[in-house]
Order: sequence, then structure tokens, then C-alpha cells
Amino acid sequence: MTATPTLATGSETPAAPAGLCPYATPATSPAEGEPVFTLAGNGVGTWRLTRPADVRAVLDDPVSFTSRRGPASPPPGPAGRGILPTAEGMFVQHDGPAHLDYRRLLAREFSAVRTSTATPRITAIAEQCLEDMVRAGAPADLVAQYALPLSSQAVCAVVGVPWEVHGAQMLEVFADQDLSNADLNSTTSGVDHFLRGLARDVLAEPARHPGLLGRIAVQGLPDRPLGEAELAGIAKLLLMPGHVSPTYMLALSVLTLVQEQPAWYAELAADPDCAPDVVEELLHHITIKQYGLTRRAVRDTKVGGVLIRAGQWVNCSLDSPADELTAFTPGARPATHLAFGHGPHQCLGQHLSRTVLACGLTVLARHLPNLRLATGPESLGWRTTHTVAGVTQLAVTW
Ligand code: HEM
Repeated sequence: MTATPTLATGSETPAAPAGLCPYATPATSPAEGEPVFTLAGNGVGTWRLTRPADVRAVLDDPVSFTSRRGPASPPPGPAGRGILPTAEGMFVQHDGPAHLDYRRLLAREFSAVRTSTATPRITAIAEQCLEDMVRAGAPADLVAQYALPLSSQAVCAVVGVPWEVHGAQMLEVFADQDLSNADLNSTTSGVDHFLRGLARDVLAEPARHPGLLGRIAVQGLPDRPLGEAELAGIAKLLLMPGHVSPTYMLALSVLTLVQEQPAWYAELAADPDCAPDVVEELLHHITIKQYGLTRRAVRDTKVGGVLIRAGQWVNCSLDSPADELTAFTPGARPATHLAFGHGPHQCLGQHLSRTVLACGLTVLARHLPNLRLATGPESLGWRTTHTVAGVTQLAVTW
């Protein structure tokens, strides 16, 4: 099957395997798609939901659909990745009050208001990353030399991990990693080892860690203090997506703007106030969670006209309906996309991501107005086996 770009304007969109990149048109239009029952790679039966209303119904109903995984979880991607063990503190796989306790602990830390106070700092980080990239000379890899160091420093600043101390370790363990990479989940992995050490330090001397980790260590849960493994799990759940997701979203956003929407790239430099609208529109068009979200029915529930039986798995597509992708129109529609999910597990880092994307794009547009690909789009490598879509490298010149 050949890939069909879903961005309406321009014809330069690089080809990538259909179904494996944010540009690929779904085989069935989500607007028409009835729930479909399929057997996943590991033989587990799964309902595939593509209509946003059906997806919202499932994600908004944690009583009928659990986020907990298990050994029989269907793999969301072709490589069988994405099966996270239920580790302490990894609250994305908790339901009900246990999940809510963690969300309450962190909600204020990631609120829109709190995150907006980080904008000057994140802009300064973006300026520094850009300076470093430019100093190293063109062509540069925008993923490794700009998007990743920017995302890494931004999430470390918000989570309260001193990048000056841990930056090299952070990049070593998180660069090009993915929450879905099963290797990372072994207790001996570099990530877990590093984060256990960090959690131990924070719990021993929270006053020496005045950022988020120190604050939640002091606060604890309503009925007990946080344990070491638990705090490490929370840190992992913040730092891992905090490195991976904005990195690839930013790289794909740059690719989209310079290849497909150069007028909007120029507008970001002329009027930085348009950045939030441009970011929202990009999130509407680009779904980096390319294999959607997984839930399991815990009781018989009707969704989209079909009965999903207790015990059956559900895969929720986060793609926008194809008919909403026929134009790139920042500011012209409400933010109805599902890029950050929906319901109680909706992305905790969404405001941080918006800030990183807006700062990252405006700094680039202002300083490098002639930014363009250094190689033909056909030579781009796509992250097809990870839950988070992206390009492995983005060679640019200016
Ligand atoms: C463009 C960037 C990002 C995208 C598209 C994205 C997407 C998502 C999605 C779709 C979910 C829902 C998962 C589910 O319902 O099972 C989620 C959850 C989550 N994300 Fe993000 N994410 C991004 C960046 C970040 C960042 C920067 C952080 C760092 C703080 C982060 C932390 C989390 C956490 C902790 C959860 C679990 C929330 C919960 O279970 O209550 N994400 N994200």
C-alpha cells in the first residue's frame, strides 16, 4: 500500500509506510469507521475504534474500561512493543482512587498556569540549543541537536532534575528511547537504575531537591509517604515521555511547516502570538501516538453500536478524522484533537508540550528563516516500531 499524505496543501510530503506515520491515511476513514474486531499479532482479540466519539466514550469511562495491562495485552505496534509491566508509581496503568491520588499530587505542578511561568526559561533553553546547533554548523540533525536537548532540558527543569548534573545521563538513557521499549523495563535497565538512585537521593534529602520531585516527596500521598521505587516510577513516567514525545512532535512539526506550510513557518517569526494556534493545528494533523491507546473492558459495554464483552481489549485511534485534515487552518477551529488522549488519563504533560513546541518553533523561525531539509524527503527514516512516531533524523540546513 502506498502512503497518501493527509496534509492538504503541497505535494512534498515524504513517503512513509501507510499506517506507520502521522501522514498516512487510515485504511478506513475514522469518520465512517465502525468498531472492528481483529486479532492482534500475539493472537489477542481487540476492538479497533477509530471514530472520535467512540474513542472518547471508552477513554472517559474508567469504570467499564481499565488501563491496566497484563501479559496478554495486545501489542499496539507491529513489533510487539508497548507492554509495560505495572511498576510502582507508573500510574498511567492505575484506575480509580489510586490513579486519582497520583494525579492530585501532580496536577498543580503541570497546570497551564504553572507551566506558563516556565515559558521564559524554556525559550532561553531553546535559544541556547539553537546557538549550539548553529555553532556546530550545517547540515545539522534537528532531532539530536535541537529537539532532544530542548525537550530534555525543559522536562528536567519542570520535574526538578538538575540538567547540569544529570544531563549526560539523561541523554544517554532517554535519547531515542520509547516508553514502549520492553528492554527498558527490565529492572536492570539503565533507566531504572538511574532513577532509583535519583529517588533515593530525593527521599533522603528532599531539601536538596527543591523542584517537583522534592516537593512531592515531602507531600506524599493522602494516606502514606511515597516509597523509593514508587518515586522512581513517577519520575520515569514523567521523564520518559517528557524526553521522547515532544522531541518527535517538534521534529515532525518542523518537517510539516518547512515542507508543507512555509507561510505559517514565516508567520511564526512575524507574529509569535500565532504560535499556540499553529501548535494546536499541528496536533490536529500529527498523531505521534501512532498505534493509539489500549484499554480492556471489565464489564459488557456497548460502544458505537457494538457490544464489547468483559475481558476484551480495545484499541483507540487518536487520529483526527480524514475530513478534518483537508486544510491547515490555525485558529479556525476548536482544539478537538485527541493527540493528548481524553478522560482521566489525558496527558499530564500537555501544557508543557505545548510550551516546548511553541517556544521551539518560534525560536527556530525567528533565527533560521531559511531552514530547509538538507536531504531529499525520500531519505527520511521513520520510527515505525515505536509507539511514538517520528523521524530518526532530520538533516537540515539554513
Ligand atoms: C507532544 C507531546 C505528547 C503527546 C502527544 C502525549 C500524549 C499522551 C497521551 C495520548 C496520553 C494518554 C495515555 C492514556 O490515556 O493511556 C498521555 C499520558 C501521559 N503523558 Fe503525555 N504526551 C506528550 C508529552 C508528555 C510530556 C512532556 C510529559 C511529561 C510530563 C508527559 C507525561 C504523561 C503522563 C505522566 C501521562 C499519564 C497520565 C495519566 O495516566 O494520568 N507527556 N500522553
